[in-house]
Amino acid sequence: MSAFSTITVKELHPTFAAEVQGVDFQNLSDKQFDEVYGVCVFRKTGLSDAKHVEFSRRLGELDHTRRYMVAGRKSRYEFYELFDAGNIDENGGVLDPNSPKAQFGKGNALFHVDSSFNPRRSSFSCLRAITIPPPNQGLGGNTDFADSRTAWDDLDNATKQDLLDNDYVGAHTIAYSRKLGSPEFFKDLDPTKDGFSRHRILQKHEPSGRMNLYIAAHMHHIEGLPEDKSTALRNKLLDHVSQEKYTVSLGWENESDMIIWDNRCTLHRAAGGAFEGKYKRDLRRTTVHDDSPTAWGLNKVDMSFTEPKKTADAAHEAIAKKLGFQHEAPKTVDVNA
Ligand SMILES: [Fe+2]
Repeated sequence: MSAFSTITVKELHPTFAAEVQGVDFQNLSDKQFDEVYGVCVFRKTGLSDAKHVEFSRRLGELDHTRRYMVAGRKSRYEFYELFDAGNIDENGGVLDPNSPKAQFGKGNALFHVDSSFNPRRSSFSCLRAITIPPPNQGLGGNTDFADSRTAWDDLDNATKQDLLDNDYVGAHTIAYSRKLGSPEFFKDLDPTKDGFSRHRILQKHEPSGRMNLYIAAHMHHIEGLPEDKSTALRNKLLDHVSQEKYTVSLGWENESDMIIWDNRCTLHRAAGGAFEGKYKRDLRRTTVHDDSPTAWGLNKVDMSFTEPKKTADAAHEAIAKKLGFQHEAPKTVDVNA
């Protein structure tokens, strides 16, 4: 018998992913909202941009792009809470795979968590399809996920003990994942220049009580280790969690499909494919600020983000300059800013 009274859950991976059916996004009750959790796929939600943002607010305070809109840069959507995770160019066409923006996106093809490069990390991401390549034709464009809690459970004892004994801190910057994703394009970008956001690697995932490996392609190094050992351990952990047995590849089947995941216990990556340069894959994301006790890691708590030129924002700015970002002005202003 189902443990849920308002939804049906179809298993997509034995340890961490499910398709949730029967959710009425137009009239979502509190009871139904409480039954939705984890890494979940929702088909045909019927959500608009406004409803997407409204739904996401029920998960917590939303991150927004307003603080990146400096030097004349403008948001491309009506809502500052929507992040562009697709391949749409400035004119609404299919992005040229060789364009600067495409070079920026290549870092997203490496397993990561959203926002670990920010002082305050994110809990949930809600990614919604607006336009997708023709499904089930082998064109690619899936979003892949990895289960970092089960990967911790299965880690060899020596490495486990090393992590438990040393309580390592990971140093994250978006500049590093951009450089790894497109080394030639970003060859002049120095990932060490603007500092790092610092988060412990081994953490308890509060909602489940299970231990988790909080790692990502954004993690430049592990504090307190010489460079060779830091790189070796970083790569070992990322390789471990990326194994097929801990991962699942999820396809986008319909417009308005949405996937919600918890960045505090999963990693994800955007899979490439033959659609690139040919078909639109317009995906938009809301990102929820973590409100758990470890949300800020070892970083300075600054709820007002009044130091926009420090660390994460400075790295973003250096990248934006390189890309020459220009967006359309938003038609409305979000209420959280
Ligand atoms: Fe992401």
